Amino acid sequence: MADHDFLNARWSRRDWGRHALALALAPWSLPTAQAQVTSGTDAAKGPRWQVEPFSLGVASGQPRPDSVVLWTRLLIAEADAAHKAQPQSVLCEVFADEALRQPVRQWRVQTDASRAHSVHVIASGLQPGRNYWYRFVAGSATSPVGRTRTSPGDNDKVAQLRIAQTSCQHFEQGYFVAHREIARRDVDFVLFLGDYIYESSNPRYQVRKHIGGVPQTLDEYRQRHAQYKGDADLQACHAAHPWVMTWDDHEVVNDYANDRDMAYTDPEVFLRRRAAAYQAYFEHMPVRLGPDPAQPQRMRIHDQMRWGQLAELWTLDCRQYRSHQACPDPNRGGGRVVVGCTELQDAERSMLGPAQEQWLYPSLTQSTRRWKLLAQSTQMSSSGIATPLGRSSFTDGWDGYPLARERLLNTLAQAQLKDVLVLGGDVHMNVVANLRVRPNDDKSPVVASEMVTTSISSRGLSEAMLAQIRDNNPDIVHARADERGYTSLEVQPSGVLAQLRTTPHPVMPGSRLQTQAQWALSSGVAGWAKA
Ligand SMILES: [Fe+2]
Repeated sequence: MADHDFLNARWSRRDWGRHALALALAPWSLPTAQAQVTSGTDAAKGPRWQVEPFSLGVASGQPRPDSVVLWTRLLIAEADAAHKAQPQSVLCEVFADEALRQPVRQWRVQTDASRAHSVHVIASGLQPGRNYWYRFVAGSATSPVGRTRTSPGDNDKVAQLRIAQTSCQHFEQGYFVAHREIARRDVDFVLFLGDYIYESSNPRYQVRKHIGGVPQTLDEYRQRHAQYKGDADLQACHAAHPWVMTWDDHEVVNDYANDRDMAYTDPEVFLRRRAAAYQAYFEHMPVRLGPDPAQPQRMRIHDQMRWGQLAELWTLDCRQYRSHQACPDPNRGGGRVVVGCTELQDAERSMLGPAQEQWLYPSLTQSTRRWKLLAQSTQMSSSGIATPLGRSSFTDGWDGYPLARERLLNTLAQAQLKDVLVLGGDVHMNVVANLRVRPNDDKSPVVASEMVTTSISSRGLSEAMLAQIRDNNPDIVHARADERGYTSLEVQPSGVLAQLRTTPHPVMPGSRLQTQAQWALSSGVAGWAKA
């Protein structure tokens, strides 16, 4: 059975158990993640470069109490083309201090053209809850220095967790001034919720331009990622903090669902494109796992991490395993606004896919951490509008998977979970909302709170559209689509403070952010209050 058949298959209770078991047994650390470690510590070995090969910067991610992923990629220029075909040896050094006087550990790894000369070192043996500094050396070149941070010990009583919540950074539609500000702030990690690159262009909004057309091949996706990683503000933000990441659709192509794209391309052909996009994504991100070597169109991005006793965070994958969008237009797939689509009421449809749902629910309901943070790519609250023919649903978002949403929120309600905060992106607006099992029904209690962050740079909805959404959805307590930026979250045992940092003008390279609004949660009470 082909992979996509398995993913799309209707599932029975027995299948759920089987897939959950397979997932539990799957090794978390596949060999693709760690570049091959070799012996020797001679930092100077390797080429004398004509052109600086560390031009894409450095990054770190997926922090654990004892480890973090350290990333770079050698971008080998034409002047150094003779070195492209050879494997390259890279030294990775970790220090306990910013002045780099206290070495902690070092690793020498090999990389080559099959992984675009990217380097992923799982820096282990570190102490919990502290900063480290790191750099890479290859031949005559030394990379910029990055700072990273391990998570606290699992049982540590920590006073706070500071997150910069981000998504949607269309390179052509604005400058990454939000990243410039985040780089200077003291946060524990950057949470990126998808649309890291965009495959497409809108000629109406271009303050700068993509190189090349819409990527289809591995080399084209590599070029797109490399262009984004060349941005100085984005590089600064990666160098300043570890990142915790999931993806949405534009890392592959707009509105893809599982094995289907908007053009209804033959799934086998589309999955080859998806494999190329996932491979390029892995090569450019500080993530532990790459594509499954046996099935390169599959790559695990969903993950779970803890912040001492204070918080547990799940990063979810809303693209790879989802059911196809309901009631599609036969001429053009992807999401659309529908009214009276009975397929939406099919309980077997899923946003996360059966295996990911079965992975999530037990760990969510059994978590003993105070705050449960569900980090996923899009808006969970409803944004439908009343029409003469019934309420509308946008089929690409959670409104297109209403029974899957109800299943998730019911799981929270039945376990009487307190302090669940759903974090999203994708919609290019700030949305602060209360989540009920039955959306917008005040007889259905609020069971969780939602914070959707606006985009770093991607254009938002018109105010006329947004006004209709607000009027039809009392669960939404704040919605603004006119500003770009990020959301600062300060999570403490007693509550959460969310600061919406925005600018109306990311088309100006020197734009500054201000605070659009502040909202707060109190521990033990679901739902937002103005701060
Ligand atoms: Fe987006």
